[in-house]
Amino acid sequence: MKKRNILASIDVGTTKICTILADISDAAPRIVGVGISPSKGLHKGLVVNINEAKESIRDSVRKAEQTSNYRVESAYVGVTGRHVSSNNNHGVVAITRNDRVVRPDDLKRVLTTAQSLKTPADRKLLHIIPRHYAVDGQAGIKNPVGMHGFRLDVETHVITAAVTSIQNLVKCIRSLGIEIEDLVLEPLASSEAVLSEDERQVGVIMADVGGGTTDVAIFREGSIWHTSILPVAGYQLTRDVAIGLGLPFEIAEEMKKKYGSVMPVYEGKEDTAPAISKDGHGVSYQDLCEIIRARVEEILKLIVLEMPSSSYEEIAPSGLVLTGGSSNLAGMATLGRELLDMPVRVGIPGNLYGIGDMLQDPAYATSVGLLLWGNKHQGKKQWKPGRFAGAIFRLASQLKNLFR
Ligand SMILES: Nc1ncnc2c1ncn2[C@@H]1O[C@H](COP(=O)(O)OP(=O)(O)OP(=O)(O)O)[C@@H](O)[C@H]1O
Ligand SMILES: [Mg+2]
Repeated sequence: MKKRNILASIDVGTTKICTILADISDAAPRIVGVGISPSKGLHKGLVVNINEAKESIRDSVRKAEQTSNYRVESAYVGVTGRHVSSNNNHGVVAITRNDRVVRPDDLKRVLTTAQSLKTPADRKLLHIIPRHYAVDGQAGIKNPVGMHGFRLDVETHVITAAVTSIQNLVKCIRSLGIEIEDLVLEPLASSEAVLSEDERQVGVIMADVGGGTTDVAIFREGSIWHTSILPVAGYQLTRDVAIGLGLPFEIAEEMKKKYGSVMPVYEGKEDTAPAISKDGHGVSYQDLCEIIRARVEEILKLIVLEMPSSSYEEIAPSGLVLTGGSSNLAGMATLGRELLDMPVRVGIPGNLYGIGDMLQDPAYATSVGLLLWGNKHQGKKQWKPGRFAGAIFRLASQLKNLFR
């Protein structure tokens, strides 16, 4: 296989695994390979069966390799789940050189102090994001390099994850001979694909209503400000339909996707959605939509409840952007606007070059976002494997590649 300036991302979701390969030789990444496989061995964003998860990832990677004829040697990988937590931290350093000019090295130092404050041994640091700096007490500075001062402060958003949960995901990917370029919090990735710079500046809530989890993130002043994860999403919608209408799970899933709406229009519709299973299951369109709507209303309300303050106009004047497969449900944005009384839209990744047509769906916001994140942050790896473990994995994958 050929070797070029290639970047890869792997979105390990609860419902699907999506691997994307892009050629980044030019200014905008050009998508050259996509591999989508159903996900197995995951529950609510976490690996629960390493072998099954590994096989699903292998399948998705192979498909992407086959369409592109490139090999996935390393990839940006998304992280989500209840084990992820975030908090706002503060760091401070003195500028001791004679000229008192802030240099890039000082930024590194002050970020290190912010990070060393609170990372317990069972947590792994994923991201340390500078929100703003202050020089000698003058706050709100985005880039203090070149300024004069005695004291440099930084306000950061620190995101950590449970070491054990990360290890399982890392193990699956590295055992396939794939190095991890960086582990990226999924909402951070999705935001790259669907939010405008303006929305991120003014303040916006982004919620990825996926299969197993709804990931909520608030962006303000150009960077992430708050993150939380709700353990309810599309899977619960399907389960409600299955239990409420007495249907097998697979048929409930099909009915939900094909006929489900949270703003149903009953006039002119047949009372019963046509049977779509071989066994001839038939259900009332109204019952189906009412069940789905009740759960979606709950999810939308929970998204807003997760906000640290109830006045959304202050925190997020740009409103709510929905991504994830479940935001494909008909009427989601309209219901959101009615229920929450704020601007709501569905975020679909756009401006994709190459063979990315199938990715223009809110379900692929994270997958595309991971790639865009990678392109933007190349060489600035924040997550580091243990040195010893890293060496063993590298040796093992080199041996595997030899026999490939
Ligand atoms: N047209 C549709 N209508 C309703 N629901 C849909 C539609 N398409 C996909 N879904 C739902 O979206 C969910 C999958 O979303 P997505 O692909 O974003 O999840 P994931 O990334 O695999 O999971 P997660 O991010 O939660 O780990 C499934 O529950 C599926 O039923
Ligand atoms: Mg997802």
